[in-house]
Amino acid sequence: MKKLIFALPGNETLTNQLLKHLSLEAGDYLIRSFPDGETYIQIISEVEKREVVLVCTLNLPNEKMVPLFLLASTLRKMACSKITLVTPYLSYMRQDQQFHAGESITSEHFAKLLSSFVDELITIDPHLHRRKSLDEIYSIPSQVYHAAPLISNWIKQHVPQAVLIGPDGESEQWVSRVAEMAGAPYTVLTKERFGDEQVKVSIPNVEKYRETHTPVLVDDIISTARTMIETIQHLKNEKMKPPVCIGVHAVFAGDAYEKLKQSGCGSIVTCNTIPHESNQIDISSLLSDSIS
Ligand code: R5P
Repeated sequence: MKKLIFALPGNETLTNQLLKHLSLEAGDYLIRSFPDGETYIQIISEVEKREVVLVCTLNLPNEKMVPLFLLASTLRKMACSKITLVTPYLSYMRQDQQFHAGESITSEHFAKLLSSFVDELITIDPHLHRRKSLDEIYSIPSQVYHAAPLISNWIKQHVPQAVLIGPDGESEQWVSRVAEMAGAPYTVLTKERFGDEQVKVSIPNVEKYRETHTPVLVDDIISTARTMIETIQHLKNEKMKPPVCIGVHAVFAGDAYEKLKQSGCGSIVTCNTIPHESNQIDISSLLSDSIS
């Protein structure tokens, strides 16, 4: 029997793309909010003894987790055989260490919560900084895919003479991979973060590319966009061309996207792990391989 795939609200476009490429059946259910904000769910499909796939990218996780938990729990109660969560953006990965006494290492608690109600996780470029693998905090199996080949293809097709710039040491792991696949040089800056919105990056040694290359900033997450904006300012001081800013995950907190647009960048491009007007790189092929 075919697997059933259920789109959580806001994930319909990606789910339909997956349905086009895979032999899955669309799960039928109703989900809506009661006037007081609580969630109503009714499963219409026959799910007993069937494997189900839930598609729910987890930006704005606090508001998405309750409906996701309720849907998974209802499917479980109706005796589905396995629940796989496809979450192209996996949130709560950044607080991975205690910096001050009493601070919550939220990535661990979030992992425990998700692991308690789904059986498997499929995601793209989770923010593994001080951790080597999701297995360190998730007790369920996970499949992790990388957008680097798709990003390098996009760069090859759209930016003839690119020099890639990673905003911090953490980004080197995959900026170097994207650069290699795109056949472009790269440099990585050093970054210090002093608070949620205060970021300082080092002045890049990029003057040799000034006349010939277009800078391409590549980062996994664009959240407040302070990292990109600071880097753009330094590139401006170095009289570089306006950079192309590429992020895997278009988190864009508050007015971050507007601020980034006004900061002097050439263009902003993201992958569709989170639906956003800047999405230009389609990651659905990565997920299709993993679900089939
Ligand atoms: C850092 O750890 C990440 O790789 C990104 O550089 C960071 O999340 C970007 O955040 P923001 O857009 O808030 O500067």
